[in-house]
Amino acid sequence: MAAVAVRRRRSWARFALACLGLCLSTAFAVDRSNFKTCDQSSFCKRQRAIQPGFSPYRALLDSLELGPDALTVHLVNEVTKVVLLLELQGLKGNMTRIRIDELKPLRPRYRVPDVLVADPPTTRLSVSGRDENSVELTVAEGPYKIILTGRPFRLDLLEDRSLVLSVNARGLMVFEHQRLPRNSFSEKVSLTFGSIWDKIKNLFSREERKETAEGNGSPNEEAAEKADQPEENREKDDKDEPGAWEEMFKTHSDSKPFGPTSVGLDFSLPGMEYVYGIPEHAEDLRLKVTEGGEPYRLYNLDVFQYELYNPMALYGSVPVLLAHSIHRDLGIFWLNAAETWVDISSNTAGKTLFGKMLDYLQGGGETPQTDVRWMSESGIIDVFLLLGPTISDVFRQYTSLTGTQALPPLFSLGYHQSRWNYRDEADVFEVDQGFDNHDLPCDVIWLDIEHADGKRYFTWDSSRFPQPLAMLEHLAGKRRKLVTIVDPHIKVDSEYPVHEELRSQGLYVKTRDGSDYEGWCWPGSAGYPDFTNIKMRAWWANMFSFDKYEGSASNLFIWNDMNEPSVFNGPEVTMLKDARHDGGWEHRDIHNIYGFYVHMATAEGLIQRSGGTERPFVLARAFFAGSQRYGAVWTGDNAAEWGHLKISIPMCLSMGLVGLSFCGADIGGFFKNPEPELLMRWYQMGAYQPFYRAHAHMDTGRREPWLLAPEYLGPIRDALRQRYALLPFWYTLFYRAHLDGHPVMRPMWVQYPKDVATFSLDDQFMLGDSLLVHPVAEPGARGVQVYLPGEGEVWYDTQSHQKHHGPQTLYLPVTFSSIPVFQRGGTIIPRWERVRRSSDCMKDDPITLYVALSPQGTAEGELYLDDGHTFNYETQNEFLFRKFTFSGNTLTSSSADPRGHFETPIWIERVVILGAGKPASVLLETEGIPETILTFHHNAETSVLTLRKPEVHVSTDWSIHLR
Ligand SMILES: *[C@@H]1O[C@H](CO)[C@@H](O)[C@H](O)[C@H]1NC(C)=O
Repeated sequence: MAAVAVRRRRSWARFALACLGLCLSTAFAVDRSNFKTCDQSSFCKRQRAIQPGFSPYRALLDSLELGPDALTVHLVNEVTKVVLLLELQGLKGNMTRIRIDELKPLRPRYRVPDVLVADPPTTRLSVSGRDENSVELTVAEGPYKIILTGRPFRLDLLEDRSLVLSVNARGLMVFEHQRLPRNSFSEKVSLTFGSIWDKIKNLFSREERKETAEGNGSPNEEAAEKADQPEENREKDDKDEPGAWEEMFKTHSDSKPFGPTSVGLDFSLPGMEYVYGIPEHAEDLRLKVTEGGEPYRLYNLDVFQYELYNPMALYGSVPVLLAHSIHRDLGIFWLNAAETWVDISSNTAGKTLFGKMLDYLQGGGETPQTDVRWMSESGIIDVFLLLGPTISDVFRQYTSLTGTQALPPLFSLGYHQSRWNYRDEADVFEVDQGFDNHDLPCDVIWLDIEHADGKRYFTWDSSRFPQPLAMLEHLAGKRRKLVTIVDPHIKVDSEYPVHEELRSQGLYVKTRDGSDYEGWCWPGSAGYPDFTNIKMRAWWANMFSFDKYEGSASNLFIWNDMNEPSVFNGPEVTMLKDARHDGGWEHRDIHNIYGFYVHMATAEGLIQRSGGTERPFVLARAFFAGSQRYGAVWTGDNAAEWGHLKISIPMCLSMGLVGLSFCGADIGGFFKNPEPELLMRWYQMGAYQPFYRAHAHMDTGRREPWLLAPEYLGPIRDALRQRYALLPFWYTLFYRAHLDGHPVMRPMWVQYPKDVATFSLDDQFMLGDSLLVHPVAEPGARGVQVYLPGEGEVWYDTQSHQKHHGPQTLYLPVTFSSIPVFQRGGTIIPRWERVRRSSDCMKDDPITLYVALSPQGTAEGELYLDDGHTFNYETQNEFLFRKFTFSGNTLTSSSADPRGHFETPIWIERVVILGAGKPASVLLETEGIPETILTFHHNAETSVLTLRKPEVHVSTDWSIHLR
């Protein structure tokens, strides 16, 4: 929930009513003045002022050393003479890692720990060519060559002879070396950034002059000379560089005891016009060019009433950018946890189609190119180049570094009912009963901050929730779960044992002078546990044991909100950058990874409380690269507006592209009251997004589905039932994501990488490679325009079973109950068609297979099953992974992973074949059992063939022949 919601809870409704339409749209806009622009963030401003083309960095090729795991070479800043160490690694699987740090830093710089799952295996680099100013390196495994250019420093990655990516080609590299504080400076090392920049420009202009005069020269010596001269106009330089040693934002001062330490680097991507990723932003799927505007910002923030289509930072950050063209895909993973800005420019941006055509006709058309520039406030340069060449490879490459999506417990893929707040136990019982009374499936009820005693997490408000264990038992009887909120701010209260222990053990984040940092949050004055400290995480994890967290039970799971961290009275509603963490690191260094550690410690706590056997479920609002290993994320405090409904698609798609598959948006919108139609459409949208939770602000009206008129309740019930029927499909997709990093919810272009028409599409998406979903997201919609891609592809409407040919834009008329979903011809989807109260009630139900035939009469699909809640799938191979194939009029079931074995009563109760002719007979063949004849029904109008009761066990091999 939003940080400042309470403080600002004016009666906006009255206000809005008074000034209607115009005001309404601004009443829910973010207050931008609370958050920095690039210009207000001194390092971003400094870096952005640098123009391309004058890099002062030079690689000293004579210093090059080739080790077994890395190549090292010194980089010198020709103006300051400061030497940096570049470490270059070829990694197995088409990846390259570049690290740059100071050779002799005044103090170590932060290197992000715990995000990589292991040290990535390396592959040897060798020198395969050399001239005066460059070295050619060959990667032992993989078709890549790397050209390292000395002056100015530059790296080019080539596959065969074509350039894939260049580093520092525009000369925008920045590495602010550490300097002594101002009052103890020595002139020599105190060259300010502004003066360096002047010198560089000087240097280049003189060099040009020289080169024309003398043919060649030795500008380096001159640069050295120049750099050795004392600064003439220090005063002026200081004015050029406000904020370098101390920075103000509104009333907050950032003391910057270590001075300016920012880093930056540019990457040029020839042939690339489409870039994606770097969540979290409320933005289109395809990233925009940022020249002339604000760069995309990555800085985990609790943004009150965020605005759509803008590059402002939100709750989470994953510093991974993907680039796609019809020829290849690649990724850039910038491993840095400090405040980061990303600028995107393109040589085709702003050109009209006509302009591009002219270029083309004149034969001089530049190849498209995108340039990406990363700027971070501290840390080192540590970047992974993920070289694809396909998007599948990029998914595997990135998740091989940071891990894949944790396999969620089955229940968490069902429906979650939340609001701020369910008042008391009676309210919880009523809501729970409401689902049964109205024949609506539901798995989880959620309790927000009001359930705890005075926002002291791990406790219960004893007047509202006197018997939490009885309540949990009641829910367990319904085979439902409870989620409680546990936020990472701890009420400063000497009577509160959690606070007392953290304080006495010194586990809180500290101020720069070493006292406990205190900020203002829900409970009032609060301490912030230092989750970067492994001791803190162990302590926290232990808090989830059943004896520590009184009133918790095995069907209680956890929600970590506010883990950016949110600090109501802090700069930009977060923590002071000069606060101190374990090891003496500043909050500046670790900010974007704080939420990741909260998520990690909580997930580990839930695993531990079960003795290591049960899979956790933890939802977190802030996240970083690797958060996928710990659970689910959502898009934070959205609003009950149609625009927010729409943006949930690109926001979750962007997260999925960078590993975070378990994503959802608050159904109905957190702020404001949704009109019934919007709420209904949101239930329909959410049914086809990975994390399916309704949630609402305290000031909104109650909106459990049964409070709506029947014309809305009916479609909501249908949407929920569609979700539950598809649970085996969802579960299988999550297993795939867990296995090889392929997102559950995918942009259209991932499936159709050569179809340019899909590259910017984000009003529809794919689930796996099988379902195309185009939810209705407009009020009063009569129809939707669905793009059905694929030359020679066929698509079956999952409602009518009508077949459509791709590629085409189909106008599909819709009613309230329509959710346009199409199954791709060539796929097989498993379903549980007997929808019950919760997923736990359905987990042993028989399966129906939907076989959608391709024009060639083929199809394939898979089904993953296990007990739905333990790690036995991993530790004991207790799972079934089945593969279904249809070809030559035969459907076969075989094992996709022979290691798996799992006792289950599940059988196949029906097979529905879409696009089938009428057979004369249908025979079932199971190993060791005589052939049996199956009854069937063929609908000639829809070409749907239904095979009744094959009654084969899901774990056996069988085949069904259509004769
Ligand atoms: C590496 O790249 C080559 C050529 O582009 C490709 O054939 C190969 O499949 C890639 N390997 C991996 C593991 O991505």
